Amino acid sequence: MSEHIHLTPLHDVSATDVAAWHQVVAASMAHDLPGVPSPGLEQIHAQFTKPALGSRLLTWLATGADGGPVGIARLRLFTSPGRDHLAELELHVDPAHRRQGTGSLLLSTVVAACRDEDRRSLIVEAAADSPGNAFCEKRDFRQALALDHLILRLDQLDEATVLQVAKAEHSGYRLTGWTGTAPDVLADAFADAKNAMNDMPVGDLDYGNVAWDADRVRTMAQVIADRGDTLLTIAAVHDDGTMAGYTEILLPLGSAPRAQQYDTAVVPAHRGHGLGLWVKAAMVRRLRAEHAGVVEIETDNAEDNVHMLAVNHRLGFRSYRRTREFQLDVPAA
Ligand SMILES: CC(C)(COP(=O)(O)OP(=O)(O)OC[C@H]1O[C@@H](n2cnc3c(N)ncnc32)[C@H](O)[C@@H]1OP(=O)(O)O)[C@@H](O)C(=O)NCCC(=O)NCCS
Repeated sequence: MSEHIHLTPLHDVSATDVAAWHQVVAASMAHDLPGVPSPGLEQIHAQFTKPALGSRLLTWLATGADGGPVGIARLRLFTSPGRDHLAELELHVDPAHRRQGTGSLLLSTVVAACRDEDRRSLIVEAAADSPGNAFCEKRDFRQALALDHLILRLDQLDEATVLQVAKAEHSGYRLTGWTGTAPDVLADAFADAKNAMNDMPVGDLDYGNVAWDADRVRTMAQVIADRGDTLLTIAAVHDDGTMAGYTEILLPLGSAPRAQQYDTAVVPAHRGHGLGLWVKAAMVRRLRAEHAGVVEIETDNAEDNVHMLAVNHRLGFRSYRRTREFQLDVPAA
């Protein structure tokens, strides 16, 4: 049935392309991810024109017999050394046009592009027990990681617990924080701490590692700022100048009510002292004090990341949905 479907690779995206893309993604997310805010037109435009650090994009729009949009595929090709074997897919088909082979057509185009680009692994996220989950299984992906997504409602906080944790004494450490780029004096220490994220549990994902240095830290912050998003960081710094741990929150463009948790990491030598809980509690207090429009924080953790889950539960985060990361070992032609 997919002979009526036409695929167009998008290069210099027009406002019409952005609107078509938005229409498909919004309809698909409303169907499969109820309650998860879909990106607005401005955010989608920024996704095309300002790709995330260390990656470039290939994108396709599927249109039906009447020329209307029915599906999209976005392939993120990682470019950093250590991750240049990997590609990440976002695939949506409008619910009104599913089960007609459009998803499969987009996927076969994506897989061919992976081969051309010398990618051995293709990863994609789908909601647990969803059409996407069934599609991935049918199309030979294997489940590589199970994620629990949690929400913290800032208007339902257990203020006493958060205050107690944030104010706790951690002898030998101090808290610091910034918006956007790390202060120059902390950039090297921050890069070292970011390298601690490399032991984050990623299940069976062939995720690779990237090495952070001060320049990469600055570039990442710049890429996020250029996209119009705001990155907040709180860090615990040891008396010897080492950054022992940090947590990052992303405020999406356009004062959205939902903030997104980015990294939280504690450097191995500093684990076991409650520093992860400390920086996260301090971040919650900062959001409450400085960003009154933020109503909730979403985070996701590997289901076997018991330490991070325990930290989040202590702060009042509650599970609200589950997703799966699937991986395809790109088949030879
Ligand atoms: C996943 C998705 C892209 C599939 O699009 P689609 O156009 O319906 O896919 P296809 O018609 O090519 O389906 C191919 C096969 O996948 C399986 N499949 C797809 N949807 C399914 C469902 N809801 N239940 C069970 N099997 C399903 C079937 O085996 C189907 O073949 P069949 O229709 O002959 O039985 C679409 O459901 C979607 O946009 N989901 C939300 C976004 C998402 O989860 N993306 C990430 C996963 S790739």
